[in-house]
Amino acid sequence: MLVGHGPMIGSVRRVLLLLPTGTYRAGDFVLAAARLGVEVVVASEHRQAMAASMEGRALVVPLHRPEAAAEAIVAFAADHPVDAVVAVDEQGVQPAAMAAERLGLVHNPPPAVAATRNKVASRRALEAAGVPQPRFRVAGTGDDLGRLAEEVGLPCVVKPVSLSASRGVIRADDPQAAVAAGRRVRAILDQAGEDPDGPLLVEHFLPGAEVAVEGLLHGGELDVLAVFDKPDPLDGPYFEETIYVTPSRLAAAVLHEVHALVAAAVAALGLTEGPVHAEVRVGPDGCRVVEVAARSIGGLCSRALRFGAGVSLEELILRHALGLGLEGMQRELRASGVMMIPIPRSGVLVEVRGIEAARAVEGIEGVEITVTRGRPVQALPEGDRYLGFLFARAPTPGQVEAALRQAHACLEVVVDTPR
Ligand SMILES: Nc1ncnc2c1ncn2[C@@H]1O[C@H](COP(=O)(O)OP(=O)(O)O)[C@@H](O)[C@H]1O
Ligand SMILES: [Mg+2]
Repeated sequence: MLVGHGPMIGSVRRVLLLLPTGTYRAGDFVLAAARLGVEVVVASEHRQAMAASMEGRALVVPLHRPEAAAEAIVAFAADHPVDAVVAVDEQGVQPAAMAAERLGLVHNPPPAVAATRNKVASRRALEAAGVPQPRFRVAGTGDDLGRLAEEVGLPCVVKPVSLSASRGVIRADDPQAAVAAGRRVRAILDQAGEDPDGPLLVEHFLPGAEVAVEGLLHGGELDVLAVFDKPDPLDGPYFEETIYVTPSRLAAAVLHEVHALVAAAVAALGLTEGPVHAEVRVGPDGCRVVEVAARSIGGLCSRALRFGAGVSLEELILRHALGLGLEGMQRELRASGVMMIPIPRSGVLVEVRGIEAARAVEGIEGVEITVTRGRPVQALPEGDRYLGFLFARAPTPGQVEAALRQAHACLEVVVDTPR
């Protein structure tokens, strides 16, 4: 299936995309592949209702069992050679690395990817390399969380080892609160289908501003594609992601430190190829790594980024995986931002009012509500979905932030809470 005519002469290339259930990004990756004239094979856990053009090009793999998934991909590739294996989201990165390694394609070392998938393994790898990060302890079920909280220094953050999107990440200001947070995190793990008796992380709470760094690795070299400021303070007790604005308004010297820190963290973890998404706290004593993931920014947030002459982040990722050129792919000069619309409380989504008014705000380029009416929604720390996304572009970061706030203020989210 040839989706379009791209820049390549000769045989059509084929990319295998790993699509986790519930990913927001299938469409953006498929579109990017079409723009490059690359054939797409989709590997996911369920045979999904893909577009008719995808028929016969879908593969069912158990993403939660990376070894089995990698084997299935390698077997498929024996009959239908692929030129790249790309995970569109976090849940696919491990099988993608394992399959691509066996097929001799661009990949991260699987052990490095495994370290990013487990927050304890990440902390240990960063610690071994002396990369600045919060003091931490690992808590088993028998451990006294109150004591561990005092050891790392209060306030602290209690978090699960395996979840994402701030799910189950809770700040505690005293030992009793740390014990209570631990209980709540274990209940959230249970609800998420993860082991509620597994280890938890207890970390010192890092005060200060937070930035997200979007990067692309090439032969171990880190290219920083964008640094996003998160202008809403992230002081807890829950850490809702809301507004991201790029370019960062931090001083050049601080940004230099952020770049160096992420490069050191990536090297410590052993990542060498493809997208990285890192979070860094910029505190009074310098920059510290919150975490590094071997994937690009989540949700629909990548739509805030445009490179060269209107190239998407997904296209950059595919170009890298296929060994195509990346010259001239600087982010556009305009400031840009996205707001992940928070879920105000748990219940059933009745409707979102004011969407047209939000769209009409100067600088707003998109309003996407991603939860369907009548669906259950969950607020943090239990929740794991966003209500939707607002996108803005403007001459300056300050104007982008103002547009996002103004558009958000137009929205009225009606949630029916069962009593
Ligand atoms: N030690 C910490 N100090 C301060 N804030 C933290 C700390 N750990 C996590 N956070 C906050 O919680 C958010 C989510 O935590 P993180 O470890 O990145 O987990 P997730 O995988 O859910 O994103 C971070 O972006 C940050 O704002
Ligand atoms: Mg994070």
